[in-house]
Amino acid sequence: MPPHSAGRILLAPMEGLVDHIMRDMLTQIGGIDECVTEFLRITDQLLPVKVFKRICPEIDNAWRTPAGTPVVLQLLGSDADWMAENAQRAARLGAPALDINFGCPAKTVNRHRGGAVLLEEPETLFAIVRAVRQAVPDSIPVTAKMRLGYKDRSLLMENAKAIEEAGASQLVIHARTKVEGYKPPAHWQEIEPVRQQLAIPVVANGDVCTVEDYHACRLASGCQDVMIGRGLVAQPWLALQIRASLSGQERAAPLLVEVAPWLEWFLQRNQQLMLSKFAPGRVKQWLKMLAGAMPDLRQWVELLQSERDPERFAERVHAVVQELSAAS
Ligand SMILES: Cc1cc2nc3c(=O)[nH]c(=O)nc-3n(C[C@H](O)[C@H](O)[C@H](O)COP(=O)(O)O)c2cc1C
Repeated sequence: MPPHSAGRILLAPMEGLVDHIMRDMLTQIGGIDECVTEFLRITDQLLPVKVFKRICPEIDNAWRTPAGTPVVLQLLGSDADWMAENAQRAARLGAPALDINFGCPAKTVNRHRGGAVLLEEPETLFAIVRAVRQAVPDSIPVTAKMRLGYKDRSLLMENAKAIEEAGASQLVIHARTKVEGYKPPAHWQEIEPVRQQLAIPVVANGDVCTVEDYHACRLASGCQDVMIGRGLVAQPWLALQIRASLSGQERAAPLLVEVAPWLEWFLQRNQQLMLSKFAPGRVKQWLKMLAGAMPDLRQWVELLQSERDPERFAERVHAVVQELSAAS
């Protein structure tokens, strides 16, 4: 028996990890309803269109990945007026929705009063969401993403209500404080009272790495919709497995032979779209996560990790892909 009705599965924004190439791959594999970009950092200026397009090249594809999945732009900053100006520019570029980041724990970002540090100031959250909301047409939903708090949870409800009252139409909660960083576990049950109090949809996020985690997260948080980050990068088939479970079926984990062509695809896209010397780094980053979830892949990944030269790395990837495909 599936314990839940269908809910949306959102791909989490992850700076330096989920760029447009990763979004392209993960949404081709399937099961994802919506993606959010890496954050666009707003300080004290109106950013040029090319900067918007660097973070979100899907702008030129009507804000969709090549597979057709909608992409939402995420803004990060503490200056309400500049956030509003830049939101307006995104709206003119056709943004289907805009998200605001109140969860980033990075020191450099927090030092400049962006991200999670704002969770100490509900009135600033309100001002930012309000300004962005008022700057763009009503047809463009403005959403926000936050953590349970900065040091503790004392302002959790106040922050969530400030965001709602300012006009946000959805709130994603990563179920940890800033101080908790990424230390497991995520506290899904702490989202539940917020969901109860808010009229807007609340989306649960944090540490969903398996089908079982997904169902446990929904049960504990009471949320219909779940955002998944690292779990989807490490297991690109997870959203499809979740979907199968929601209709009472079981979908087996992919075999190495199914993963192999994506490895080649991912390398080639990175080679085509970024300086080729950076491509091996991106592939290794992904492989490391993938191997964490697929022990059979580890020996192959070890073979690749040590190669630094981009050309030789590509040759090795090709050889590994051939072997994996032939081994089936
Ligand atoms: C490498 C990395 C980069 C991240 N970048 C962002 C970001 O740009 N914007 C944001 O709102 N959250 C960001 N996050 C937080 C994730 O969106 C998510 O809330 C967190 O990883 C917990 O979800 P998960 O356990 O499913 O990965 C980032 C997390 C990681 C690990």
